[in-house]
Amino acid sequence: MQFDLNRITRKNIQLLKPYSSARDEFSGEAKVFLDANENSLGSPLTKWYNRYPDPHHVQLRNKIAAIKGIAPEHIFLGNGSDECIDVLFRCFCEPGVSNTIICPPTYGMYQVSANINNVAIQEAPLLPDYQLNLAHIEQLVNADSRIIWLCSPNNPTGNLMNLEDIETVLNNFFGLVVVDEAYINFARQRSLISLLPDYPNLVVLQTLSKAWGLAGLRIGMAFAGMAIVEIMNKVKPPYNISEPAQELALKALDEVGQVNDMITLLVDMREALAAVFRQMPWVEVVYPSDANFLLVKMQQAHLVYEFLLDKGIVVRDRSRVELCDNCLRITIGTEQENTLLVDALAAWHEQ
Ligand SMILES: Cc1ncc(COP(=O)(O)O)c(C=O)c1O
Repeated sequence: MQFDLNRITRKNIQLLKPYSSARDEFSGEAKVFLDANENSLGSPLTKWYNRYPDPHHVQLRNKIAAIKGIAPEHIFLGNGSDECIDVLFRCFCEPGVSNTIICPPTYGMYQVSANINNVAIQEAPLLPDYQLNLAHIEQLVNADSRIIWLCSPNNPTGNLMNLEDIETVLNNFFGLVVVDEAYINFARQRSLISLLPDYPNLVVLQTLSKAWGLAGLRIGMAFAGMAIVEIMNKVKPPYNISEPAQELALKALDEVGQVNDMITLLVDMREALAAVFRQMPWVEVVYPSDANFLLVKMQQAHLVYEFLLDKGIVVRDRSRVELCDNCLRITIGTEQENTLLVDALAAWHEQ
């Protein structure tokens, strides 16, 4: 079977006449706007924000397009990548009929979003080296499979998936292959955005929440073929990205140099921290990371987690997650936070 967007797009979505907002019906300049039931008197804020934001995120998509070297028509913007994930399910998976394939351990929202949308989940766990189990994925695919979720670099394991494996999935699967690149800016490999012209079934997810340091703004990006982006735009809530979020993101996107400096520093600190952890006698494995966190396997991980909590340091306890037995996932902090963490771990050893 070949990839066929019409085949995998839900019929009700194909037929959907999207909501036409006031801004869709009139988007030019005017003296008086009395068309959207906004409050014309203003708001309690100095800058009012009394008008609805641009539903098409034109300026923001143009700026992202320039940075990524891709036309804006290939960019969908969501309220965080989490919204992109949900919109993909709503566009391309028929509730109660379609199934989706995930490769645990991986980012939890693919499963939650599938559950919300009543889409059956099929699991092809990663191999012990945290790479894709291609044979298992192949075995799970059936006529109702719609989306395969790959996360590279993967959360919580931190590693990149082998590029040849991703391309094998892209070449052989007749549905969508979503590659979540939330952590790609910290990685040694380049984004798969450059492969979009080769694979009509590829969707690449990125976010401003990680390297760009803007988790509070909630801006996620999906890069895909124009037809896929058009369908996703039909389904998203009209004003899914607020005016202040769009404004602040536009400002931040002018600072590519500053962000690159932060990435370099975070990667350096990641490697330094990994070296320190490897010296700790009760640490068993520090997994190589292409992200802004480390997955660390250690003796009595859960007790270490509790001990750190007691010292006011919160890490992520992944010790009960499949293939992450006795593992903590530790985000790279500031220099000072990393020192506090290392000191606390030394104290754990001494007690
Ligand atoms: C792999 C992955 N994708 C997506 C997200 C969520 O990104 P956003 O903040 O854009 O919703 C996360 C957040 O931790 C993540 O780890």
